[in-house]
Amino acid sequence: MKKRVLSGIQPSGKLHIGNYFGMIKRMVEYQESSDLFLFIANLHSLTTLQDGPQMKAMTLEAATDLLALGADPEKCHFWVQSDVPEVAELTWILSCLTPMGLMERAHSYKDKIAKGIKPNLGLFSYPALMTADILINQSEIVPVGKDQKQHVEMARDIAIKFNNQFGDVFTIPEPDIVEDVAVIPGTDGQKMSKSYGNTIPIFGESSVIKKTVMGIVTDSKGVEDKKDPNKCTIYALYKLFATSEERVGMADEYRKGGLGYGDAKKALLAKIQETFEPFREKRAKLEANPKKVEDILEEGAKKVRKITLKTLEEVRKATGLRY
Ligand code: ADP
Ligand code: TRP
Repeated sequence: MKKRVLSGIQPSGKLHIGNYFGMIKRMVEYQESSDLFLFIANLHSLTTLQDGPQMKAMTLEAATDLLALGADPEKCHFWVQSDVPEVAELTWILSCLTPMGLMERAHSYKDKIAKGIKPNLGLFSYPALMTADILINQSEIVPVGKDQKQHVEMARDIAIKFNNQFGDVFTIPEPDIVEDVAVIPGTDGQKMSKSYGNTIPIFGESSVIKKTVMGIVTDSKGVEDKKDPNKCTIYALYKLFATSEERVGMADEYRKGGLGYGDAKKALLAKIQETFEPFREKRAKLEANPKKVEDILEEGAKKVRKITLKTLEEVRKATGLRY
């Protein structure tokens, strides 16, 4: 039996190559090795994004992007969180078993407040919603970055508490923390992140991608100077796309001297264009046919609801809410 793996992705605007190599590529690989549950976490986004037209546009954009990048509805469960309303009912039920102290210890809530986000009840109880996402599908493995690890631990605690109180309804999930996910650098050498404005978009106009790549910050060494590949952002990005021979080739040329940053950028640009071109074509087709995306999402919700409804029914019975 394949393991049940679940992940939610908040719709967050233009995807960049840090998102691709840091997460999306891994999700697409999980489709082959596991029973993947992948959803667009729009109820989570509502904690901070409160603009109807923008929410709608970003949700469809995220769905289109993920489908173009390889999410395959034939091979995984793929849906939008709000199309499965059972999760909100389970959130309430689990909230009643969640000690305040557990929620108050959440780092991510404190970090968000520290960043100036205005607290609301949804932002505070966000880990209870995430717990419901995980438990309602009886997920076994939840791959997350370090920032989300505590939320999966809360899901475990709450599942154990529920099972002790009401009987064994939930599978106890395990976090799968990818410690060594390389931090993909942005054009200024810091972590690539939309909040730093240093991203290389996956689906941007060719001319924008070109300008962004040609604008990668380097030191001021000339063409003939010897260079250390490990101190160069162009090389760090090139490595993601290149074969091992190509990697060694660029590193050697840097060390010997003779490869200028301009040419290295052109080599990187060619790799980016070549790698993402098929995804861009697929995306253009999907974008021209939004009905198809909507149909996929509708089917996806229908398929996953068979599982969520079954779990919720067990919860209703166990708690005595089904009388
Ligand atoms: P951003 O930092 O641009 O706001 P998000 O926080 O929305 O990106 O990240 C979404 C996913 O992409 C997360 O799983 C995160 O780990 C991954 N990710 C984002 N930026 C990077 C990066 N520079 N390197 C590796 N992974 C990244
Ligand atoms: N909270 C996650 C994030 O911000 C997204 C998410 C929502 C999620 N529900 C989930 C991730 C369940 C894993 C499992 O990135």
